[in-house]
Amino acid sequence: MEYVLITGASSGIGKKFAEEYAARQNNLILVSRSEKKLKAVTDSLRGTYNIKVRTIAQDLSLPDSAEKVFDFCDRENLAVGTLVNNAGFGLDGAFDSLPLEELEKMIVLHNLTLVKLTWLFLPEMKRRNQGDIINLSSVLAFQGVPYNAVYAATKTFVLTFSESIREELRHSGIRVFALCPGLTETEIFKKTGINPHRTLMPVGPPEPVVRSAIKSLNKNKSYSVPGFINKILIHGGRLLPRTAMLKLGMILGRREKSTIKRSE
Ligand SMILES: NC(=O)c1ccc[n+]([C@@H]2O[C@H](COP(=O)([O-])OP(=O)(O)OC[C@H]3O[C@@H](n4cnc5c(N)ncnc54)[C@H](OP(=O)(O)O)[C@@H]3O)[C@@H](O)[C@H]2O)c1
Repeated sequence: MEYVLITGASSGIGKKFAEEYAARQNNLILVSRSEKKLKAVTDSLRGTYNIKVRTIAQDLSLPDSAEKVFDFCDRENLAVGTLVNNAGFGLDGAFDSLPLEELEKMIVLHNLTLVKLTWLFLPEMKRRNQGDIINLSSVLAFQGVPYNAVYAATKTFVLTFSESIREELRHSGIRVFALCPGLTETEIFKKTGINPHRTLMPVGPPEPVVRSAIKSLNKNKSYSVPGFINKILIHGGRLLPRTAMLKLGMILGRREKSTIKRSE
């Protein structure tokens, strides 16, 4: 029986993906840094559903972490049929006010690890002529976003990378899908000391985001922007010149200053 591997499954959108796939009777491999939080999610899922759940406590912002996750699955004979590259974090503030080491971790986690996990698990999916890859992008992927410069750039990378390999894999039986949520009420904001409600953008719960993602994947869509207002802003905005889109990016991205700062 194949497994669904979800990174960042200990909270927020990743945890909801775990619950949705568990409810569909899929076995799970859950990855995040916190062993304690993974255990809590596992206990609750095992208590409700008759499925197998394995966990890997791993910091995915380390450059060799994807290989460690893959090696664990290989050693334990765990076949991964669905890969959800979800783990991520936020960093708000002027680009040069943010710590370089945090920016580096973000690029590794959002991009390098996601690419490596995809590359490592693809051959087995290709052999089976079957597989799903869901990559977490964002509404911030569609334009430059002042005060979220690196975050937005990493999410643009995720979107274009996903669309590109999706085409390459068109006749392979493997579906690649990029999820581009708007503001979603999760732990991500608590970690940076940001209040998402102090923006002009709507804030929604993670459940409909995850359900709409699985629905869009099953309709074989390449990406989706959940939520009516988010759709209007992003799809409508794409008709505007890029300079006007930057103003939209300003509205989408500007929040209070993050509590994470470059040391003087
Ligand atoms: N919430 C939003 O408004 C929003 C909007 C668009 C896109 N997204 C994207 O959605 C994804 C999930 O975010 P979320 O909102 O659900 O945030 P969240 O509640 O903070 O969850 C983030 C998850 O990623 C894990 N994680 C963070 N850093 C990690 C690392 N270095 N190594 C391994 N795991 C790590 C966390 O677990 P540990 O702390 O235990 O490691 C947690 O399970 C992210 O990619 C985010 O960019 C979120």
